[in-house]
Amino acid sequence: MKHILIVDGGPRRNMNTAALCDAFAEGARAASPEIEVERVRLYDLPPYKGCVSCLACKLKGRENGLCAIRDGLTDALRAANDADGLAIASPIYFSEWTAMTRAFLERLVFPWLRYTDFSCAAPKKKPLAWIYSMNAPESMMPDIRQHLAILEGAVARGVGDPAPAFVEAHSTVQVKDYSRYAMDGLQPDAHLAWRDAHWESDLAAARAAGQAMAQKV
Ligand SMILES: Cc1cc2nc3c(=O)[nH]c(=O)nc-3n(C[C@H](O)[C@H](O)[C@H](O)COP(=O)(O)O)c2cc1C
Repeated sequence: MKHILIVDGGPRRNMNTAALCDAFAEGARAASPEIEVERVRLYDLPPYKGCVSCLACKLKGRENGLCAIRDGLTDALRAANDADGLAIASPIYFSEWTAMTRAFLERLVFPWLRYTDFSCAAPKKKPLAWIYSMNAPESMMPDIRQHLAILEGAVARGVGDPAPAFVEAHSTVQVKDYSRYAMDGLQPDAHLAWRDAHWESDLAAARAAGQAMAQKV
């Protein structure tokens, strides 16, 4: 069996990011009965923090690629290191990941980074996928990517995937009933029309990315 881990960094269980994760998982499972897909919801984990700069992962002889802090995130970090394929999903908040995703990424990647030669190596090589949902239209992606690029690049280097998959859902519908919210500035009609025209293809892209990862692992 090959094991794909989806790290779902969205707080909402039934909205855009969660649906993209579902579709990714569906695509991966459909590709082969030999694929096991696990989903970790970061917002469901026991309490955890971002990197606390203890530097224990840099102690000589202790560089094992796993954050030394033991808390609610430890099992997820171990699972991400052990997985044969890794998908990381997050809504975009202030042009970056959610806080829980950011904390996960700090603690995943910093132990991979060596301060001797500045190489970055996860304990196991694997294909990587990023799954994002956001209010912003596709045209704003170059700006947003500037905020994501450094950590995205470090994760890709760490897992040894020079061409990670990207699933991006833009102009998402943020609430089920816009009439209840003071959100006119977002032009809800435009989001609803975009959803009607693009959401199915966003889900199809997520399924295809899951399938592609299943074929690579
Ligand atoms: C605190 C907060 C900050 C946000 N910041 C951004 C942003 O900077 N850019 C953007 O495109 N969307 C932003 N959004 C919108 C979400 O990314 C978007 O609605 C996303 O699809 C939500 O995912 P979900 O439905 O899985 O919760 C923000 C939403 C929240 C709650």
